[in-house]
Amino acid sequence: MKNGLEDVIAAETRLSDVDGDAGRLIIRGISLEELVEDSSYEDVAALLLDELLERPIGAAELRASLGRARGEVFVHVQAMDGTLTDLPPVDAVRALIARLPDGDDFGTALLLLAAPAVFLPAILRIREGKAPVAPTPSLSQSADILAMLTGSLPTAEQVSALDAYLVTISDHGLNASTFAARVIASTKAGLTSSVLAAISALKGPLHGGAPGPVLDMLDAIGTEENARKWLGQALDRGERLMGFGHRIYRVRDPRADALKGALVPLVATGQVDADRIRLAEAVEQAALAILRERKTDRTHDVNVEFYTALLLDALKFPRKAFTGVFSIGRTIGWIAHAREQALEGRLIRPRSAYIGPVPQAA
Ligand code: ACO
Repeated sequence: MKNGLEDVIAAETRLSDVDGDAGRLIIRGISLEELVEDSSYEDVAALLLDELLERPIGAAELRASLGRARGEVFVHVQAMDGTLTDLPPVDAVRALIARLPDGDDFGTALLLLAAPAVFLPAILRIREGKAPVAPTPSLSQSADILAMLTGSLPTAEQVSALDAYLVTISDHGLNASTFAARVIASTKAGLTSSVLAAISALKGPLHGGAPGPVLDMLDAIGTEENARKWLGQALDRGERLMGFGHRIYRVRDPRADALKGALVPLVATGQVDADRIRLAEAVEQAALAILRERKTDRTHDVNVEFYTALLLDALKFPRKAFTGVFSIGRTIGWIAHAREQALEGRLIRPRSAYIGPVPQAA
């Protein structure tokens, strides 16, 4: 048995490959760097779904259909009550998705891709006492998310930054939430069930729940001079430094640099607090140094969540909502893996080694 299933290969996939030693992510044969440079969220969604639905879907059709699907799922926002909006945003998103029908066709996939994109901005506005903003089907998914969040049209730099984020986190091998999605799909339950299981796995602080605490850490550190002392004390208390370390990457997570790059146009146009970015860079350097000194048995580098925190903060998502934004981007990966599993895989049913008591001999 391998604790945490480390290094265990549990599925074959044509979707993405994570090379932890080289620090490389490939999605459908294309490097992450190339995808972030050249592709929109809709391009990557169409790429991931290729040959997994009942018929071929191009990016243009997907964009138009996704716009209509955002309009369709908006009706569920009106049915929301106080018990949902009081929940953490990602839990409220999950509860609303649970109301959607289950299925494994293109229609179900579209509703699931649209749902968190519509529900999260609406939940955030309602929590602030504002009316939800209806989707605009003609916009891209990224532009519409920001429009629904703020009530006004986003700048080109903001749309590109969110698009880069959604592309960057679209898929990432057999991470915990994707594995959860595949387990559910292997039973032939539908895509909605797979996505619900995946969101439940994502929300944990060791997976998609880290970026909010990254900002808490930056706030607590406050100044560049305080970084080393603060980080040292956190490690003394046995805490993990949020935004660092990874099960697979032994070098820098390539997604961190993709997101760092996506921040550049926002910084250059004054749409983000440059002092905050400078502090983050100083904290990153201090954390890498102290982890190198204290954790000598394994290297721990920066992971995707560190720059996710800065990017989503710059786009004015509240930190409590970061895991929900992650779910918007990763749903496409979950759906593609669930379809691949349902089409090609067997029921996932491993065994456990029993280490409990045995009945006494008579
Ligand atoms: N800070 C301090 N120590 C760390 C960190 C960290 N960020 N990451 C790992 N370590 C320590 C562990 O505590 C462990 O030491 P211990 O046995 O003395 O407690 C040792 O390094 C071994 O770690 P790994 O086996 O590499 O860690 P694992 O694969 O179990 O966990 C994980 C990976 C969960 C990401 C871990 O690095 C962590 O908790 N990081 C902080 C949270 C975080 O940033 N999560 C987001 C990950 S990215 C994503 O899922 C989208």
